[in-house]
Amino acid sequence: MKFQKEMTLGEIVSTFPGSEKILKEYDIDYCCGGHRVVREVTSEQNIDVNDLLSKLEAAYEVVMKYGEEKVDWVHAPIDHLVEHILQAHHAFLHSNLGYISELTTKILRVHGEHHPELLEVFQTFHQLKMELEAHLIKEETVQYPAIKKYIETNNLGDLNKAVKVIDELENEHTFAGDCLKQLRKISGNYEVPADGCSTFLKTYEMLELLESNTFTHIHLENNILFGRLKELKQ
Ligand SMILES: [Fe+2]
Ligand SMILES: [Fe+2]
Repeated sequence: MKFQKEMTLGEIVSTFPGSEKILKEYDIDYCCGGHRVVREVTSEQNIDVNDLLSKLEAAYEVVMKYGEEKVDWVHAPIDHLVEHILQAHHAFLHSNLGYISELTTKILRVHGEHHPELLEVFQTFHQLKMELEAHLIKEETVQYPAIKKYIETNNLGDLNKAVKVIDELENEHTFAGDCLKQLRKISGNYEVPADGCSTFLKTYEMLELLESNTFTHIHLENNILFGRLKELKQ
């Protein structure tokens, strides 16, 4: 077992960033309470510790199985694909959009006067952030639960629900992709100017990471997940 009762919450989140989502579901504070031990926290909050540990274990196994190597997502179980997207892409956005917002705000304040392009970076990023946050909510509360339910019950109503939102989600992906392309253009391919500080560098590094993570995310959904859902409907 990877996760033990005697581990601190901080150790769990550092070993496995995808655990944040599960801890939030249990209303466990892993930020300010990161030094606390799982056994104590679960007993205080009346949480079944074994239940929590086995959920963490199962999610971690999926990440390990599909995390690094090239996976044939066209044939892997569709609920594993959904879980992988949540762990590798949604978790990335949930933990980094706020941080990148702080960074783009900070460099606009410090360098905006001499680098007018930073205003456009700030505006385009925040438009993207707002759109992505609403998009994630739609996927996490409507489409993905419908897919999971369909896998469990084979009920066509759930499959139809998941397929019905595809057009909307695809349009939102196009918007996000355009914002990312625009950001690359405005920033001159993320070239940090000679007078840029370390925060400037970090901001552009994070924006580039956001770009590559999101492009893979969109690829997995548009090209694989949505196609497979449509095939299931036939
Ligand atoms: Fe997604
Ligand atoms: Fe999406």
